[in-house]
Amino acid sequence: MPRPLHVSFAFGPSGEWRVDDVRPVIGEGIPKAERMSVTEGDSMLQAGAAFTLRGATSNARYAGRSELDALAARQEGLSRPSATRAALIPIRKTEAWWALAQDERRAIMEERSRHIAIGLDYLPGVARRLHHSRELGEPFDFLTWFEYAPEHAEAFETLVRRLRETDEWAYVDREVDVRLSRD
Ligand code: HEM
Repeated sequence: MPRPLHVSFAFGPSGEWRVDDVRPVIGEGIPKAERMSVTEGDSMLQAGAAFTLRGATSNARYAGRSELDALAARQEGLSRPSATRAALIPIRKTEAWWALAQDERRAIMEERSRHIAIGLDYLPGVARRLHHSRELGEPFDFLTWFEYAPEHAEAFETLVRRLRETDEWAYVDREVDVRLSRD
């Protein structure tokens, strides 16, 4: 696993992504904006941005060996030219979730909710990167980022719907669904 990569998602008048929709799913939303830019690395301050969310990649917490191998065999990287659609879904989990032990969280996430098994059905059409924000004192615990081609947009909706029906989502107390596109 490479060193953590710090990433900022800056909303404002400029940026490589057009913001098509900002929809609060659970709890409070975030401000609407025209554009969004993704910046990787140390200089996470975005001049002119109205609103910025920050996170960092990390090591896996829950996926086991066979799951990591299955993911590695199927997943594709970000920035594919065909992937002109994206979703940024910031998520915060409840205090009850964070009070659980690691093995209890794993049991909810995979044995009961099949998060990784469900997700694997949508690779390689959807490319993803998980950012952790909780340790940075940010308003969300995770910034989940997905890129896909228009022909996978319908499948992506099904994926999101399936995950939101799981036991794991009972522990989500804030979720915003931001959809973006680029030419
Ligand atoms: C975590 C896979 C889609 C939200 C994870 C992890 C894996 C994974 C392997 C665990 C990482 C670890 O071991 O720490 C996938 C795959 C997907 C997918 C293959 C298919 C594209 C989604 C979607 C959402 C989402 C659509 C949001 C709607 C999350 C969140 C976490 C997570 C919030 C962090 C959970 C936590 O640490 O408590 N995902 N996922 N995932 N995923 Fe997904």
